[in-house]
Amino acid sequence: MWRRRRRALRGAPDVPTLAAEHLEAGDPTGWFEPLYASARRDLDAVPWAEGAAHPYVTDWLDDPVSTPPGRRAAVVGCGLGDDAAELARRGYDVVAFDVAPSAVAWARERHRGIDVDWRVVDALEPPDELIGAFDLVLEVRTVPSLPGVVREAAMDAIGRLVAERGVLVVVTLVATSTEAADAWSGPPWVQAPSELATYRSSGLVRLAMEHPPSDPSGVLEARVTWQRPAGADPRGGPRPGGTLPLA
Ligand SMILES: C[S@@+](CC[C@H](N)C(=O)[O-])C[C@H]1O[C@@H](n2cnc3c(N)ncnc32)[C@H](O)[C@@H]1O
Repeated sequence: MWRRRRRALRGAPDVPTLAAEHLEAGDPTGWFEPLYASARRDLDAVPWAEGAAHPYVTDWLDDPVSTPPGRRAAVVGCGLGDDAAELARRGYDVVAFDVAPSAVAWARERHRGIDVDWRVVDALEPPDELIGAFDLVLEVRTVPSLPGVVREAAMDAIGRLVAERGVLVVVTLVATSTEAADAWSGPPWVQAPSELATYRSSGLVRLAMEHPPSDPSGVLEARVTWQRPAGADPRGGPRPGGTLPLA
């Protein structure tokens, strides 16, 4: 299962151009909506759509690194909703959100009859009611689809959704060397293992990082599990790029 094909975004010739145009226009997440809208309900037109929950997610749910303390779950950047539907089928109360309204509408349609609270939300600016509200948060391939300028803020904001003793499961692309990172062009962009430490800014501690032993490209799809310790305030601590009070 760790050998899963890595289709996400690669091989779709229009995606790098679309992403670059929106980034230049100062709207780094703006390219998802036109991509979903122009797909017209054709899964093959969405390069990351697999039509099923990610195997790293189902595997984690079968054998969790740490059992979440309750059943409240969030799926960040839910796309077409397969991970969210899987969580709901397993008895979680799920809020699934995406920045692209067309993705949310499509996910709702695809999983009609499954009880998920589908929402249009920007993970960079989550509403207050979602902060610290979840026992389990899934972030599957969303952060690596964002350019470097917003990734730190995204990781910090996503981490703050996690309740005390709650768990965050991240699926991302990790470069095993500087050379591999330099040779890779996105989207999706790769993350250095050191960049992943940004989740600590939201008060999380890392429990596990799992990935296949190697890949000829030097880039691996990794699954990282984080937890908010008891007593760690999801609203506390400095935001990345912010300043500490002087007094
Ligand atoms: C590569 S896709 C992955 C979708 C899904 N998680 C999966 O693995 O199939 C990235 C998703 O993140 C969403 N996204 C990107 N930026 C976002 C943001 N700031 N807030 C919420 N969703 C975002 C995109 O619309 C897209 O659906």
